[in-house]
Amino acid sequence: MKILVINGPNLNLLGLREPEIYGKEDYASLCAYIEAHCAERGVEVSIFQSNHEGAIVDAIQGAYGVYDGIVLNPAAYTHTSVAILDALKAVNLPAAEVHLTDVNSREDFRKISYARLACGATFSGYGFKGYNMAVDWLLNQVISINE
Ligand code: DQA
Repeated sequence: MKILVINGPNLNLLGLREPEIYGKEDYASLCAYIEAHCAERGVEVSIFQSNHEGAIVDAIQGAYGVYDGIVLNPAAYTHTSVAILDALKAVNLPAAEVHLTDVNSREDFRKISYARLACGATFSGYGFKGYNMAVDWLLNQVISINE
């Protein structure tokens, strides 16, 4: 099983960025954390980060026929991007939405998620662990699709 993890804008600045909200661990630690979990589960993973909406759309489109599922933290684009939603709908791969923070308990504008409309599950507010929860959810999805 092959999974693509996509991280949106400013997640590359983890550790530096509002550490009281997003924690002190940096982006490289997040990637290592996800990779370790995927290795344990026997899942092949690629991790992509971009600050650009179009690059994220391109990554989702490029996943078609290559990956079995997508784990996506669209970051600020969660709350604005119909283009990312449409790309997810277009490729129709199993997808899980992740947020480090609990977006529902923050500002009102963070309660809106376009991407969620094309995601089978959301893991919000679990920090790094949310990515592993999303990987496990995808694993179960893909196993049940192939049964
Ligand atoms: C985020 C939450 C978003 O509202 C915010 O814009 C981010 C990160 C999270 O992981 O908690 O950049 O997606």
